[in-house]
Amino acid sequence: MRTIDPSELSYRERHQLVLSGIAPRPIALVATLDPQGRANLAPYSFFNAFASHPPIVAIGPAHSLRTMVPKHTLENLLQTRECTISVVTYRIAEQANLASAEYDAGVDEFAKAGLSKYPSQRVRPPGVAESPFIMECVLLEHIPLARERGGNGNLVLLEVVLFHVAESVMVNGRIDPNRMDLVGRLGYNWYCRASGTALFEIPRPSGCGIGIDALPEPIRHSPVLTGQDLALLASVERIPEPDPEFPRFPEGLRADSVEIELAAGQPWAALFAFLQMPEREPVQEQLLLHRIAQAFLRQRLVEEAWQTLLLQETARLRGVRDAT
Ligand SMILES: Cc1cc2nc3c(=O)[nH]c(=O)nc-3n(C[C@H](O)[C@H](O)[C@H](O)COP(=O)(O)O)c2cc1C
Repeated sequence: MRTIDPSELSYRERHQLVLSGIAPRPIALVATLDPQGRANLAPYSFFNAFASHPPIVAIGPAHSLRTMVPKHTLENLLQTRECTISVVTYRIAEQANLASAEYDAGVDEFAKAGLSKYPSQRVRPPGVAESPFIMECVLLEHIPLARERGGNGNLVLLEVVLFHVAESVMVNGRIDPNRMDLVGRLGYNWYCRASGTALFEIPRPSGCGIGIDALPEPIRHSPVLTGQDLALLASVERIPEPDPEFPRFPEGLRADSVEIELAAGQPWAALFAFLQMPEREPVQEQLLLHRIAQAFLRQRLVEEAWQTLLLQETARLRGVRDAT
């Protein structure tokens, strides 16, 4: 590990370190009006939600380090106390980037970025019509950050008073991430897309799992099972008892070799092939069983993974092998 003291870095190095390590960040397209009613739009990735009751979000518009001049977004927010935040999707990422250029005060970045205005109901600044998720916000608090040490950051807390969600991203009353297709900001010029193969689901634990520290030694120190695998095994509330009926193979199961079935992501067939094999060294058998259990875990079949691992006991294994 490289150990880095932020005070020893240049501003640029420190900025990129923060942006690269604390990523991906959602991007807020923040629309404000100046006191003359002229619209301003700019992207902010120092942005997140911090509460839902009531909904409170925050953005971090930094002062220019050289001049300590605040960004138009902050100036407008402090004067008019209202904004909208429209989330940035893949379809409008380039336009959001265009809106980040340093246009003079009073220049309408909606027009510059070719984005349309969605009328707001509770605040005056409009949202971005091309975004599927718009929040109407009022200013709660502005916290200048570490000014006494020359800091240039700002934390702006905003309460969301109204949401607008496009019907096109809803499926059965829920927002579908593939339809949202949000983008995230990382360090340097990197972005990512939160859709397709980038998405995966992890259900929240239903109770208190036994924890990785309570797993039997040979499992905890397995050369095969990863931290992800162990976390799934440790999510059970107690270590299962060996099931005398296990394995009950699906009807008409066909199996090639263990290796081929594992490569094909077929744990049942891999286990079937394994049980057809002649008895081997216990260490080798254990490694194969761990790999088959891992294949079950990749499909979140935790009970099957446990039962596979519980076959490890040689006497049991011999019995199951004879019966298969
Ligand atoms: C994707 C993206 C994210 C950005 N995030 C921030 C941010 O969190 N804080 C910040 O001060 N500037 C950020 N910027 C730069 C501002 O958008 C830029 O300084 C802009 O000119 C500010 O406009 P304004 O003065 O109209 O508010 C970001 C730029 C891009 C392209």
